[in-house]
Amino acid sequence: MLKRSDPPLLSIDGLAVEFDAPHGRVRALDHVSFEIEAGEIVGIVGESGSGKSVTAYSILGLLPRQARVQSGSITYLGRSLLGLRESELKAIRGSEISMVFQSPQTALNPIRPVGAQI
Ligand SMILES: Nc1ncnc2c1ncn2[C@@H]1O[C@H](COP(=O)(O)OP(=O)(O)O)[C@@H](O)[C@H]1O
Ligand SMILES: [Mg+2]
Repeated sequence: MLKRSDPPLLSIDGLAVEFDAPHGRVRALDHVSFEIEAGEIVGIVGESGSGKSVTAYSILGLLPRQARVQSGSITYLGRSLLGLRESELKAIRGSEISMVFQSPQTALNPIRPVGAQI
């Protein structure tokens, strides 16, 4: 049983992400902060281009190469996810933190039950 004093499952604090674009730098995320407790369901809502996907990519270390985390922290069970080696991230991706990519008809396997995949 998790106690209130346990660290949050996921904690994002002051996250800022920038892209190198042809016309200069684009700040996609600025001051993004939220926490998710164990057992909690959190939805992030925003207009297209507001940074929902970039937030998710940052957590899983899947940002495209032209993007950079400029500041902030991402902490999973008290452990920083930023700066982990690719092999360490691979151990977490899919087994502990997963992402169903946009267009679930192509992101999900149609011959396996959806509950098992999620
Ligand atoms: N490949 C990219 N190159 C440059 N900027 C990008 C790229 N991908 C995303 N961005 C920037 O990040 C912002 C947030 O994008 P995104 O997280 O995909 O939005 P959402 O998922 O909320 O629709 C975009 O408005 C854009 O400024
Ligand atoms: Mg998106």
